[in-house]
Amino acid sequence: MIPQSFIQDLLARVDIVDVVERHLTLKKSGANYFACCPFHGEKSASFSVSPSKQFYHCFGCGAHGTAISFLMEYSGLPFVDAVKELASYAGLQVPQSQGGHDRQPATPEHDDLLAAMTAAARFYRDQLKHAPVAIDYLKRRGLTGEICVRFGIGFAPDDWHGLRRIFPEYERKALLDAGLVIENDAGRRYDRFRNRIMFPIQDRRGRIIAFGGRVLDGGEPKYLNSPETPLFEKGRELYGLPQAQKAIREAGHTVVVEGYMDVVALAQFGVGNAVATLGTATTPHHINTLLRHAQRVVFCFDGDAAGRKAARRALESSLEALRDDVTLAFLFLPEEHDPDSFVRAFGAAAFSQAAASATPLTTFLLNELRTDCPLDTAEGRARLVHEAKPLVTRVAAPMLRLQLIKAIAEASEFSQAEVETAFGLKSETPRRAPTDFRQDMELGEPRRTPYPPRDRPRPRGRQRPPSAINTLLRLVLHHPIWAARVPVDLVPDDTADARALVAIIDMMSTGDLVTNGGLGALVEQFRETPHNETIARVAGELVDAKFDEAVIETLFEDTLRKLHADTIEREIGELTNREREGGLSPIERTRLAELILEKRQPVNFRKVDDV
Ligand code: UTP
Ligand code: MN
Repeated sequence: MIPQSFIQDLLARVDIVDVVERHLTLKKSGANYFACCPFHGEKSASFSVSPSKQFYHCFGCGAHGTAISFLMEYSGLPFVDAVKELASYAGLQVPQSQGGHDRQPATPEHDDLLAAMTAAARFYRDQLKHAPVAIDYLKRRGLTGEICVRFGIGFAPDDWHGLRRIFPEYERKALLDAGLVIENDAGRRYDRFRNRIMFPIQDRRGRIIAFGGRVLDGGEPKYLNSPETPLFEKGRELYGLPQAQKAIREAGHTVVVEGYMDVVALAQFGVGNAVATLGTATTPHHINTLLRHAQRVVFCFDGDAAGRKAARRALESSLEALRDDVTLAFLFLPEEHDPDSFVRAFGAAAFSQAAASATPLTTFLLNELRTDCPLDTAEGRARLVHEAKPLVTRVAAPMLRLQLIKAIAEASEFSQAEVETAFGLKSETPRRAPTDFRQDMELGEPRRTPYPPRDRPRPRGRQRPPSAINTLLRLVLHHPIWAARVPVDLVPDDTADARALVAIIDMMSTGDLVTNGGLGALVEQFRETPHNETIARVAGELVDAKFDEAVIETLFEDTLRKLHADTIEREIGELTNREREGGLSPIERTRLAELILEKRQPVNFRKVDDV
């Protein structure tokens, strides 16, 4: 892990404009620099780089980030390599990293868990050599010794305390935390994996973070997986990714399958670019990870009803990740096959050909909608538009979205404009006057963005009133010092924006927030946190915003007042409801009276200087 202090120093030394300029031709206009966006196809320059904020943002596709993010996205570099490259521009030496995890700062405990996993994997591999039943099983499944080595496949012996042989300190905390052992109510420990073929699950750098264990016979569960641990979050990891990376680059696409065995069998037959989700539905995280490796992703599903259902879920998770320069496609295998049996029956060439002719996402989406809605009746055609709305409005890619709208208009016999109105979208977006600074802060979405940024959870209609929390988040990112003025108990914990705001306030209150390095440097402090995406997205929206300081000071206070009023209102609402339903206790009644009084009183929040 690279220390945050180094990242902050580095960002203070480099100028994002220089960094971007090494790769793109920038033109200055006003305070910012512009170029055609490298992350989506376009002819006009929507990609803007702000030297004062040290942040970039594309108002065409929503791409945004710091100098580090730019190198990661543009050159496809992992975080550490992007930092190294940036450091070399600045003539700085990156402090020696001690290994760690992508998501979490390396701690001694963390290293301890990784070491335990590595040792366990070695043990399972060794055990396989001495387990003829297991070797037999793998042979029967048609796996070669070579492929087993490539995937580190092993065997957990049929022994309640097998791991004691390599961990004399079987009581170590790490074994429990890593999910290798289970502790019963009596506090007695035993091995989680027994008498199972072991598939090590690696993160994209090849570190073992979990296991999947398959029974040899028909026992239940067929696969036992590591629980979620500090090392392992199912919805983020993909089985086989480190082994597949090279083949993905060569093939230009990734195949996503459902099973461990599918990945291994495909690799053995020469289809090396397959990865599997880990017994979970495909998540947006998976998709974003995959799109970092190749611009085409083929989801492969069994041809049965369960497969179609899984495909439908994958479709829904991918809508927001769609971009005009990527293709997501769906491959349905013949009913009786999974990828493992398919490649054994028909060979690698047939599989690759099927993957190449997989159904593109938009076609699949339209087919699904058509299946649900009979188009020969007015009701069916109306329903088509109704059902399409929540799906299509989540597509952030402007051109793909337009294609979908046109196709839906055609199928439903409405005009394109009628469909857009039904979806709450308008094709024409008036450009706002540049001095409309109050709107810059207040609107959930900058006016000139015809489409929501790609990683936004759900597009907000422009008509929707701005959320007070979103406004505060913008203001606090613009003036981090103001975070100290937001009473944290006024901030509910019900949206990503709110949680991000609380995180900033918390870091401010512990004195850990570096506030003098510019917006980019501020955002980098949240890279390893769950708030990264939210904060980076809102920061991106600020790149082209203009502010009148006098007005935003008032706006800040008004917003705090509104939040305060909302909080009181909510509590009053809850109490009056309860009163209606069954009466209030004396304490609650007093509280209600207090609240009603408080509601009438003006509130004063501290001025900037008081902080
Ligand atoms: P499958 O049952 O299709 O597994 O489940 P498979 O990989 O084809 O296995 P074989 O061919 O029967 O050996 C697909 C995936 O779902 C998860 C695993 O990740 C598995 O690879 N799964 C399945 C579980 O986590 N637990 C289970 O009990 C079953
Ligand atoms: Mn299978």
